[in-house]
Amino acid sequence: MKKILALIIVLVLGVSVVGCGKDQNLSKLEKIKKKNKLVLGTSADYPPYEFHKEIDGKDEIVGFDIEIAKQIAKDLDVELEIKDMKFDGLLPALQAGNIDIVISGMSATEERAKSVDFTVPYYDEEQTIVIRKEDENKLKTKEDFKGLIVGAQKSSIQEQIANENLEANEVRALFKLPDLMLQLKNKKIDGIVLTKYVAKEYVKSNKDLKVMDITLKFDDSAVSGAVKKGQAKFLKEVNTSLEKMIEEEKLQKFVVDAVKLAGEDK
Ligand code: ARG
Repeated sequence: MKKILALIIVLVLGVSVVGCGKDQNLSKLEKIKKKNKLVLGTSADYPPYEFHKEIDGKDEIVGFDIEIAKQIAKDLDVELEIKDMKFDGLLPALQAGNIDIVISGMSATEERAKSVDFTVPYYDEEQTIVIRKEDENKLKTKEDFKGLIVGAQKSSIQEQIANENLEANEVRALFKLPDLMLQLKNKKIDGIVLTKYVAKEYVKSNKDLKVMDITLKFDDSAVSGAVKKGQAKFLKEVNTSLEKMIEEEKLQKFVVDAVKLAGEDK
């Protein structure tokens, strides 16, 4: 009886190992092709990179990062699925295999590069601070934030910059940027550290806010896509696709179009 049981266990185990072994042996690139789907993870609160917009009465996620992802999917000859999540959750989702790639205005920092692989850079960022317009005479330099409360997106380089560059009393890190904007408008915080480009978009639709005329220093700002480590073939294809977009100035066009789209009805 025991022997039979042991045999059954061995058989069951054997079959299941062979069963998943089949897919396990495929490279990431082969898996993506097999499921005919590239799953993008992004935090769609970052216009003009990625943001929500109502198009023909339907809520859509648009922006130049999305166009880039569409082009990558097209070059891979697969469909694109977009998952909108917290910026903070993107890299864990990548590690867990819930998404295939992150394209989310993510800066390729040394720290992050320890756990994921970055594509070639495709954009650059400069950081500044958004304030209430009524404070423009009071808040002119980064030193003016001493003792105040400053906000930034959780797990972003802006959170780090706020901690390292400003002598604020508190750096409030929230998951989504619209929540920070609301806190700023309601005087719960006094400034938001943000990329100039994105700051400008938010201020366009919030006339009571203002982008400060300063640049906060940070070395690793350049923006790249991210994939899980050890997916060389997939990464290579993504890079080829990106390099082509840059070379053919398609990427530039995506940016111009996204700015227009973000600026509409403001
Ligand atoms: N570039 C900054 C970073 O990598 C902020 C990116 C935020 N992206 C977003 N989609 N909200 O930390």
